[in-house]
Order: sequence, then C-alpha cells, then structure tokens
Amino acid sequence: MRIETADKNDLDALCAIEAEAFDENSFALSQQNFLYHIKKNPIFICKINGTAAGYILLLQHKKSANLRIYSIAVKKEFRSHGAGLALLEKSFAYAKSIGKKGIKLEVNIFNTRAINLYEKSGFIKKGIIPNYYPDDAPAAIMEKIF
Ligand SMILES: CC(C)(COP(=O)(O)OP(=O)(O)OC[C@H]1O[C@@H](n2cnc3c(N)ncnc32)[C@H](O)[C@@H]1OP(=O)(O)O)[C@@H](O)C(=O)NCCC(=O)NCCS
Repeated sequence: MRIETADKNDLDALCAIEAEAFDENSFALSQQNFLYHIKKNPIFICKINGTAAGYILLLQHKKSANLRIYSIAVKKEFRSHGAGLALLEKSFAYAKSIGKKGIKLEVNIFNTRAINLYEKSGFIKKGIIPNYYPDDAPAAIMEKIF
C-alpha cells in the first residue's frame, strides 16, 4: 500500500472512486471539482499494487487551527484492509507538518462505518448540524486534537 499526492493523471481514478462511494445525497465531487482541488488543496491517493484504492481531500484555511477533511472514500473491493486508516494517518501527519493543532470533519450521522473508523482513530463528536445533507440527514461534527 502506497500513499501518494494525487495529480492530474489520477483524475479518472478519483472520479471512479467517487462514483462508487457517494450518491446524490452525499455532495459527490465532479471531475471539475477534483481538478480544482488538485491545484489548490492536498489530495492523497492510496494505491494498492499500483491500483487507486481510495483518496482523502483536505482543506486548509490559514486562519483555522484545524485541518478539515472534506472527503474520504475507498473503493468497495479494497475496503476493510486499512486503506481508510492509512489515509487518515497520512492526513494527521500532514496536519502536524503544517502546524495545525487538530483535524475536523462532518459525517452523516447514519454512516456508522465511517464514524466507527473515526472514533477508533481518536475523533470525538463535537456537535450536530441538522439538515446538512440534500436528503436532510444531519451531520456529526467530529474533531481530533493532536
Ligand atoms: C469509510 C471508508 C472510507 C473506510 O475505508 P476502509 O478502507 O474500509 O477503512 P479501514 O479498512 O481502514 O477500516 C474499516 C474497518 O475495517 C477494519 N480493518 C482495517 N484493516 C483490517 C484488516 N486488515 N482486516 C480486517 N479488518 C480491518 C477497521 O478496523 C475498521 O473497522 P471498523 O469499521 O469496525 O472501525 C469506506 O467505508 C468508504 O469509502 N465509505 C464510503 C464513503 C464514505 O462514507 N466516506 C466517509 C464520508 S465522511
């Protein structure tokens, strides 16, 4: 398993991961969105035997003490093999390297699989945002302080 910084050559692979992981109720990113973020923000891609298995997109606002995980996804065939955890750990290392004090994210409160992984990785629920998703599902705000 290798974690690399994504570049333009990874666009098709990122879109394929996205299409499988998210639907219209989950703010799925388009190819244009990925192109924008590849230029502006860190996207790390996890490759297993050379195949793109998953990615994590991070947002860094200068004024915020925390890095934000905007999106994380792993292809179904590669799930439960530690790719999600490896991408999270890469984001912790990156956040520390740029002087952030912690990392935060929003997650659908019904996304038990993701929430379990975040809690195992040291995230704590800090609040709820009602009607966050297009289908009105609430989001949990989760944060990990280093
Ligand atoms: C959430 C998501 C990114 C997790 O990715 P993943 O690669 O399956 O994550 P991991 O393999 O690191 O961990 C998942 C589980 O597998 C377990 N696991 C990890 N390595 C394992 C291994 N070698 N053998 C068995 N189980 C393992 C982990 O302990 C974890 O268990 P838990 O769910 O009980 O905590 C993935 O399910 C996904 O893409 N979901 C759809 C998109 C999504 O919901 N993204 C989050 C939006 S906020």
